Amino acid sequence: MNNIAVNALSDKLLALIRRRSGHAYTLGYILGKLKCTNKELALAVKLLRQSGYKVSRTKKGTIAFTSAPDFLYANEIYHGLTTKFMGRIVHAYKKVQSTNTIASQLASADAPEGTIVIAEEQTRGRGRLGRQWYSTEGFGIYLSMIVYPKIDPMHAPGLSILTAVSLADTISGYDDLDVKIKWPNDCLINGRKVAGILTELSSDLDHVHRAVIGIGININHRRRDFPEDIRKRATSLRAEMKETIHRVEFLQSFLRHFEKDYVAFRKNGLMAFRKRIIDYSLLIGNRITLDYKGTRFTGKAIDIHETGGLILELPEGNRVFTAGEVTVVKA
Ligand code: BTN
Repeated sequence: MNNIAVNALSDKLLALIRRRSGHAYTLGYILGKLKCTNKELALAVKLLRQSGYKVSRTKKGTIAFTSAPDFLYANEIYHGLTTKFMGRIVHAYKKVQSTNTIASQLASADAPEGTIVIAEEQTRGRGRLGRQWYSTEGFGIYLSMIVYPKIDPMHAPGLSILTAVSLADTISGYDDLDVKIKWPNDCLINGRKVAGILTELSSDLDHVHRAVIGIGININHRRRDFPEDIRKRATSLRAEMKETIHRVEFLQSFLRHFEKDYVAFRKNGLMAFRKRIIDYSLLIGNRITLDYKGTRFTGKAIDIHETGGLILELPEGNRVFTAGEVTVVKA
């Protein structure tokens, strides 16, 4: 049997035995259902075990499913996913340079909306402003989502903010964590960054053709797992909650939140989220400095604009900023 056939068989076996976790399925039942030989079945069990699944076999030949690994396999992401279109097509990799690069290529080839690209590790994870996103194997979620939002490019910053709100909702579902959004694209817990968003677009002057929303989430890092230069500024869900988080469940929950929010965003725009944005905002209501194109502006952040820009109250009047590096001024 070739690799593809073994893979397909082990997928079928997994789907069959995980219907009732812990149940001992007889050999006759499984062979009959899968229409395979004993030897092929043994290969499929071996493959599942090599992939981290706990599958038990008795002398009589019964087979039972015990547990699945917390790896970001397409199969695991589909299992129990309740979305309509987000994450219904998954491209899962062990190691890539950047999931955003792969997602952009897929989007140019018209991959369906909601397609996601995910990796256990990135060697050139990209952050905003040309920075690098630290993406070691196994600890985080490195995700890119393909969407076709039919919006004016002016409103594109709203996509990152919307994503930050869905992420904040997902995170605060865990242990009532106090999550804040630092405009335009960071999620923070206790002042440290837990997730970042990098939205990349293909557009012309009046409409967005496609968008790739890239998200890096620090999930199971311990403090010492972060490189020294970011250790003081970064955190993870595990570091905050003192327990390991199931990454696949987190991802499924996030995709559910995001799908609901994205559908509402397409229908009603960003202002439908204004209250949630303000509630989560680290900046609105505070005096801040904003560095934009070499100039520093100091003023009070007063609101979010319908385009996703930040409205600053400056001595010369209110101004909407669409980008910039922001710091809260300590009183
Ligand atoms: C930032 O805070 O600067 C944004 C970080 C975005 C990182 C994610 S990880 C998945 C996706 N692929 C990338 O190369 N970057 C984004």
